[in-house]
Amino acid sequence: TAELPLEGRHVVITAGGTREPLDPVRFLGNRSSGKQGVALARAAAAAGARVHLVAAHMEVPAPADMEVTRVETALELRQAALQAAAGADVVIMAAAVADFRPAEAAGTKIKKRDDAADPVITLVRNPDILRELVTRRSEQEAGPELIVGFAAETGDAEADVLEYAQQKLERKGCDLLVLNQVGKDLVFGQDTTTVTILDRDGSEPATVSGSKDATAAAIIERIGSELKPR
Ligand code: C5P
Repeated sequence: TAELPLEGRHVVITAGGTREPLDPVRFLGNRSSGKQGVALARAAAAAGARVHLVAAHMEVPAPADMEVTRVETALELRQAALQAAAGADVVIMAAAVADFRPAEAAGTKIKKRDDAADPVITLVRNPDILRELVTRRSEQEAGPELIVGFAAETGDAEADVLEYAQQKLERKGCDLLVLNQVGKDLVFGQDTTTVTILDRDGSEPATVSGSKDATAAAIIERIGSELKPR
């Protein structure tokens, strides 16, 4: 029987959306459902990979038959992803990582007081984990053979979106970039999606539409074809 495309490979996938605490009961979050990341994790496992899912907040359960690390914040996701990536062949950054977090999380619930001024939330930048994975790989001359980023772009003309995505791919330095066009009711939480896969060689972008399972299978197949045979 033919060997599965990811047989013997170790694949790390981040999924879901981070939550950045404001106080013990409140957070800044995003609309990521984790569905695409979980679909990728299943597709990678079905392709024969050993999968480690680093899961931020998700609206869907994590698959039971794989290693799962639960995280809340971008900083926790960074730690888990960098650690997991150390022994991985492929890292797929499908998580929606908050670009900013509140500068301070209050130790107790922020109260509304009639005599006090309205609170102001100061944000600070989170580290870019995808860039860090790429930088570490080049500094250490070791690391995952393939690092895959995601881009969620809203609205705008098709050509502009592709142009942004190509620029993002170059800025991040990852090997493949999967572009998702998102809007309030588009893609996030939905079961169907359209993705476009871009690579660093500037090959013709490949667009796939369908269920998140079908697009995940297509992404995993492309990843399998990019890996050097061994
Ligand atoms: O810069 P932007 O958020 O659009 O990039 C999206 C890609 O970068 C995704 O693969 C996401 O997982 C990753 N990312 C990251 N660290 C951040 C923000 C995004 O790794 N702080």
